[in-house]
Amino acid sequence: MSNATPVTRREFIKTAGAVAGASMLPINPGLASDAGRRRYAIVGTGDRGVTMWGRPLVERYSDVLEFVGLCDINSKRAAVAREAIGVQCPAFTNFDEMLDKCKPQLLMVTTVDAFHSQYIVKALDRGVDVMTEKPMVIDERQCQAVLDAEKRNQRKIVVTFNYRYAPKHQTIKEILLSGEIGRVTSADFSWYLDVSHGADYFRRWHRLRARSGSLLVHKASHHFDLMNWWLAADPVEVMAQAGLKVYGKNGSFRSTVCRGCPHRSSCSFFYDITKNPFRTKLYSECEDVDGYHRDGCVFREDVDIFDTMSALVTYSNGATMAYSLNAAMPFEGYRVAFNGEKGRLEVRDYERQPWVQEEETEIYVTRSFGKRQKVSVPKPPVGHGGGDDRLRDLIFGRIELPIHMRLPDSRAGAMSCLTGIAARNSVDQKRPIKISELVRL
Ligand SMILES: NC(=O)c1ccc[n+]([C@@H]2O[C@H](COP(=O)([O-])OP(=O)(O)OC[C@H]3O[C@@H](n4cnc5c(N)ncnc54)[C@H](O)[C@@H]3O)[C@@H](O)[C@H]2O)c1
Repeated sequence: MSNATPVTRREFIKTAGAVAGASMLPINPGLASDAGRRRYAIVGTGDRGVTMWGRPLVERYSDVLEFVGLCDINSKRAAVAREAIGVQCPAFTNFDEMLDKCKPQLLMVTTVDAFHSQYIVKALDRGVDVMTEKPMVIDERQCQAVLDAEKRNQRKIVVTFNYRYAPKHQTIKEILLSGEIGRVTSADFSWYLDVSHGADYFRRWHRLRARSGSLLVHKASHHFDLMNWWLAADPVEVMAQAGLKVYGKNGSFRSTVCRGCPHRSSCSFFYDITKNPFRTKLYSECEDVDGYHRDGCVFREDVDIFDTMSALVTYSNGATMAYSLNAAMPFEGYRVAFNGEKGRLEVRDYERQPWVQEEETEIYVTRSFGKRQKVSVPKPPVGHGGGDDRLRDLIFGRIELPIHMRLPDSRAGAMSCLTGIAARNSVDQKRPIKISELVRL
């Protein structure tokens, strides 16, 4: 990758013109209130509820938000979460009771994926604005129910696609918007989950299709959302293949949980949760209530999702994408490339690897018959490439961003999930699936 002229993101965008003049979002485009503090509640008080949508909100946005309720099916976990978040509001195991007693105006949904839709619909029907973690839903029936509820109530849903807000992903969007590589005709997108992060999905509820919709929905919905947004297009048709090649039944031995496992000294996937005091308190010490083991065995026979997936997606603008997701890789990161009529944009992102890597992200723009430029982006050392902080700041009115960084809505939530749902259906039915077969938009 030599002989490329180095250029910063700012310089590239300035010379590329089109994006530099983009209008800005109003300073308060999200769900912060102009009229005093909004009454805020969370359903699903696991790690994401506490560490992304709990404690940081108390620390940074208490001027616009007031925590009024927490809800989780596990009463012990909700109590641990309340202490970790640092609030005094009541905690419930019954969602309706929380709505009745606490009257939230804004709800954050951070439960197990399969249950997002029921809480979104209930909240919308009670006039509450909703933020939900991805994936918005895990199947087409849930998707239709959420879209219908939003329409009938004329409320707002924000789907918290934090990946969009990482500076590297904004840079990719802006290079495409600049028109430097012309109309995109096709894209290659490969995401690599390593044997630590990838394996983690097989330790817990994600391993069951009925809970996560499989990684084609749970994880890939992030990637499908990025691609829909980068291309500014909707998915139209998906053809996919997938298999379970490493985890689950593929193991030569198995147990139920890592703690006390007879294979602990020989299993490379052994995970010692006792070394993490927060997880021990939030999960292990609460597991007598619901049997949720955060350190479950990755080789359990009941794993019914895939660890090796590929899909071909056709988009409404005529572009195609060759996509793959592998969950047992020796390193973590991705490659994405866009082939345009006037050039090619190539990106290699390194998130974790067993070698020293100077740069997190390599971005190259090559013009056909022309020069190659290397675009550098800032590298924030914080959650999800800086996406977590910037997303929260945008929602609660702390930063101004260009119009193409607007908050993802229910359509974005639906289109990303539907790509994964279509891929899953395609694997099952061994045929291409049209998105229009799945829901009425
Ligand atoms: N955007 C991101 O980068 C990102 C990162 C991590 C997780 N997530 C999403 O956040 C959500 C939570 O993930 P997590 O890692 O915290 O999971 P988790 O398992 O740690 O927490 C889920 C919580 O939901 C509770 N729960 C389960 N069923 C419930 C029900 N029917 N009603 C109410 N509560 C219920 C569990 O008791 C648990 O406390 C998931 O949807 C996940 O996809 C997003």
